[in-house]
Amino acid sequence: MPGEPWWKSAVVYQIYPRSFADSDGDGVGDLEGIRRHLDHLEWLGVDAVWISPFFRSPMADFGYDVADYCGVDPLFGTLEDFGRLVEEAHERGLRVLVDWVPNHSSDRHPWFVESRSSRDSPKRDWYLWVDGTADQPPNNWKAAFSQTEPAWTWDDATGQWYLHLFLPQQPDLNWRNPDVVGAMHETLRFWLDRGVDGFRMDVIHALVKKEGYPDVDDPWLSTDRFDEPATHERIRAFRRLLDGYPGDRVSVGEVFILSTAKVAEYYGDNDELHLAFNFPPLFAPWDTAKWRTRIDRVVEEFDPRGAWPTWVLSNHDNPRHRTRYGGSEATARAAAVLLLTLRGTPFLYQGEELGLLDADVPPDRRVDPGGRDGSRAPIPWDVSPTHGWGDRAEPWLPFPPEADVRNVEAERADPTSVLHLYRRLLAARHDSDALRLGTWQQLPSPDGVLAYERVLDDDRRVVIVNFTDADRTVSVGGDWTVDVASDGAGEGGRYAGAVAGDQAVVLRPP
Ligand code: GLC
Ligand code: MG
Repeated sequence: MPGEPWWKSAVVYQIYPRSFADSDGDGVGDLEGIRRHLDHLEWLGVDAVWISPFFRSPMADFGYDVADYCGVDPLFGTLEDFGRLVEEAHERGLRVLVDWVPNHSSDRHPWFVESRSSRDSPKRDWYLWVDGTADQPPNNWKAAFSQTEPAWTWDDATGQWYLHLFLPQQPDLNWRNPDVVGAMHETLRFWLDRGVDGFRMDVIHALVKKEGYPDVDDPWLSTDRFDEPATHERIRAFRRLLDGYPGDRVSVGEVFILSTAKVAEYYGDNDELHLAFNFPPLFAPWDTAKWRTRIDRVVEEFDPRGAWPTWVLSNHDNPRHRTRYGGSEATARAAAVLLLTLRGTPFLYQGEELGLLDADVPPDRRVDPGGRDGSRAPIPWDVSPTHGWGDRAEPWLPFPPEADVRNVEAERADPTSVLHLYRRLLAARHDSDALRLGTWQQLPSPDGVLAYERVLDDDRRVVIVNFTDADRTVSVGGDWTVDVASDGAGEGGRYAGAVAGDQAVVLRPP
């Protein structure tokens, strides 16, 4: 659409690089592996990729502990590999977003090593150091993964506590220090100058902490730990920096606040984030009333601000949606129709297009301190025993269930597969201005069914999602053709006024 930035009509595909594709057979995915599989993404029809961190890291949090914001970890390749990847992605019409982790660095980042070296270090104030005694953390804040360990670690050598909202190996940067702001702006410019189309910004709502570090009611989730005005101010500066570059560079903030009203505030007055993740729908069960509420909340909070919503069902931090919804493939298919037809920018997570379940990871192979291994299992590419992962080393995590049939090669050969459903849905979006950018209006529907209309000028689509496993009569008035059906049934034929159990359909005018 002329006049609208590309990211409003885009579908973004999240790549977790350790698990996407391995080019050198060491059992860990890498940048060259991504480049070699761009044909899959182009064939699928996504518009952009967001690549989780591939920067130099001791991997305490598998890359979300960054030791060099401008360097590629040798495990993933080189800066040249990244350059080739961006170039080739762009040639194929795919945009590239990188994951920027500004709230904390690794404890091995030279900044923290320097900061920790002495109280008089010129970088002491780049992190959050607090006086106290070794037996009493400064307040009741808890670190994210354990939920029981304090968010503070005592440094014996210099006799102070430092703050880490996540692991002790992830000290929080001091965003009240202008030198930190300046240095981190430089890291944004570094990647923008290398042609990236934008950033996914990690835990962006938490950047600036409340002065005085007050105790809070919920020591793990409470937003009372953060200074909101100062954080919004920092985000406005990122926005100005991005908007100073040509080509609609985009910011997508991970605003991990389970209030849609709060999330909406991070769009500012169209001067903060371009997009923000809104997680309450991801945590909602597969239930019509719950989803109706989640959608209504977005309409109420986002529309008046002119904020453009995002939708996400799966990512590297949570069990996959098929697993969460009880394992049924039919439900996962219906959910894909919902995800890709709501008003806003959808985010797919690698492997959901295959209908993957979480891997069952045996205790002796669990590696993530946050218990998130299941959704991070390697993508099975082909029907061979190693599923495209080479034979030099076993992949770092076991494959997801049914990898012998649930892999890219097998599903590509099967037009009834989940993979082909995703492809048809993406094609339907590309064909319809209404689906990409149109208004969203709920239609009357029976219990257990959500029906809505998307309209832009004279382009119209109707979507019906049956959340139950029973057939439902749903009359939507007029003549409609089935454009896409979650189970493939009746596509291209006339809509007969009913949906089957667990079915979702996209209807177009005949
Ligand atoms: C975000 C990331 C998560 C990471 C955490 C700390 O929530 O999505 O994977 O562990 O931030 O960086
Ligand atoms: Mg590798």
